[in-house]
Amino acid sequence: MILPIYAFGHPVLRQKTREIEAPSDAVLKLIEDMFETMYNASGVGLAAPQIGKALRLFIVDTVQIDKEKDGIKRAFINPQMLDESGEPWDYEEGCLSIPDINGDVTRPPDIRIKYYDTAFQLHEETFTGMDARVIQHEYDHIEGILFTDLLKPLKKKRVQKKLDKIKQAKINLKYPMEFARF
Ligand code: NI
Repeated sequence: MILPIYAFGHPVLRQKTREIEAPSDAVLKLIEDMFETMYNASGVGLAAPQIGKALRLFIVDTVQIDKEKDGIKRAFINPQMLDESGEPWDYEEGCLSIPDINGDVTRPPDIRIKYYDTAFQLHEETFTGMDARVIQHEYDHIEGILFTDLLKPLKKKRVQKKLDKIKQAKINLKYPMEFARF
């Protein structure tokens, strides 16, 4: 089932998220719906707050980015970032909650993260490059951080009007979205 994606300005994107206590059919169904929703919007990652759930959960599929390279496709349940390291690099990010805005974000290239998979098995893994980049972006979502918070000051100023438009739902939709109500 395709779910509406919550747009910039909706309070759920800034809400404190809670852990998923145990595996359930409802959680598995939610993850399935999140994948369907992400693919429908041509995304490579999606976090639970973006579909209106304040949960520590996100999905990633970087296999789509470059078919030549081994990407990852998985759900991260109750993830915990353990370490970020290496020489920070810039990459132009975007976000399904913030359509038609892109901008360079500086992040370290190597991460170590702990998370549960859909069988509720605990993993501790390292990721690098694009896999790490997408995970960092999605991890930020469950911490209430959006990539536009991390833009350089001048760029942040430049996108402000566009952000206000999204907040007020004054945009053309490419996929179903839910907006803040004032
Ligand atoms: Ni995003």
